[in-house]
Amino acid sequence: MRCVDDFRLRLGNRELVPIVIGGMGVDISTADLALEAARLGGVGHISDAMVNTVTDRHFDTKFVREKLRQYKFNVANSNKSVVRFDLGQLAEATKLHVGRTMERKRGDGLVLVNCMEKLTMNAPRETLRVRLEAALDAGIDGITLAAGLHLGSFALIEKHPRFRDARLGIIVSSLRALQLFLKKSFRTNRLPDYIVIEGPLAGGHLGFGMDWAKYDLATIVAEIRQYLISEKLDIPLIPAGGIFTGGDAVGFLENGAAAVQVATRFTVTDECGLPDPVKQKYFQAEEGGIEVNMISPTGYPMRMLSNSPAIGAGIRPNCEAYGYLLDANGACSYITAYNREVAAHPNAKRVSVMDKTCLCTQMRNFDVWTCGHYAYRLKDTGHELEDGTYRLLTAEHVFRDYQFSTGDEIALPG
Ligand SMILES: Cc1cc2nc3c(=O)[nH]c(=O)nc-3n(C[C@H](O)[C@H](O)[C@H](O)COP(=O)(O)O)c2cc1C
Repeated sequence: MRCVDDFRLRLGNRELVPIVIGGMGVDISTADLALEAARLGGVGHISDAMVNTVTDRHFDTKFVREKLRQYKFNVANSNKSVVRFDLGQLAEATKLHVGRTMERKRGDGLVLVNCMEKLTMNAPRETLRVRLEAALDAGIDGITLAAGLHLGSFALIEKHPRFRDARLGIIVSSLRALQLFLKKSFRTNRLPDYIVIEGPLAGGHLGFGMDWAKYDLATIVAEIRQYLISEKLDIPLIPAGGIFTGGDAVGFLENGAAAVQVATRFTVTDECGLPDPVKQKYFQAEEGGIEVNMISPTGYPMRMLSNSPAIGAGIRPNCEAYGYLLDANGACSYITAYNREVAAHPNAKRVSVMDKTCLCTQMRNFDVWTCGHYAYRLKDTGHELEDGTYRLLTAEHVFRDYQFSTGDEIALPG
């Protein structure tokens, strides 16, 4: 029986172990996690979601405090259109986050940044361009364009000196999304270097509607593969979502995938950025305790543990400090939902908002426990201790389990 290590991912002149750890914002796929993947010869992702906040946490910068000070006058105003990001600070934060990560890189693998394009930041094009260019300036090996795929992103950075040598990939969930992207970026005369195909069982935001269960990753991969063959395009395909064992991964690699992208298995590792008590919630997840809902203001469904504290929380919108989801007009659907509840309960000290969440604040505080469909199997990957908690795993252990286990086997830590 074959294992993942019998295959290699070829990207340009590099031969890699075909395991990609997917981006997990906000700072759930930490630099430490991404660097482990690279050290082991695979591919890791950091994420640039809420990068000012992440940089403050790690490098003692004060970007969030400064922004809040500047816009404090607007806190009680439900119109957030004045709240803008300082592009210089955004570039600085991105360079710190990416640059410090790349300085620590060891081994033959790659470290990429997951760029969640749905973070419109009250100026979608300008902020996206700054994020992409600053990441390239700071030496990132490549960029994976994620949620909300902005069809013109390649054109935004085509003048950058690294536009052709950095690896640029995209995440799609359908052949149609891929075709649209290729059509739109045709003019830049540059194809994506890889295509992550994210199916309906993934964690984070889903590229499907609430009818996600009707779709199947293997079918979408086969469709996209056929299309690329018919167009004589040779682009590595990287399926993602619900690939829980080395055997699952081999199934895709044998059917023409170049690598697999995985994430949920790494949420219970030392290197993952979630707080330790939250990692225990992931270990203890039950199948019935995982849901796909519409509380993200992005408009995309999101999968999460049903006991996530963010669900139903009615905090005041924090856009003066964060504001990453403000659209080009300074609006966010959480603000509307929150105001509606406040108006309906004028005397309540606290309101509950069920249909939307203040995603920035809740992700920043690790209170959205987003996970892949198979998170309920995490308990099979570790040792339960007498008190009902689980011993955390190392990223190296999980990576090597994917790399060397066969069939349904899951290697337990020694
Ligand atoms: C906790 C968590 C956070 C995630 N955050 C992001 C994100 O910010 N951007 C993104 O493109 N994908 C995100 N994802 C999706 C993963 O990168 C990955 O493609 C997917 O979860 C793989 O499926 P698996 O978790 O079943 O292995 C997230 C997944 C998890 C589990």
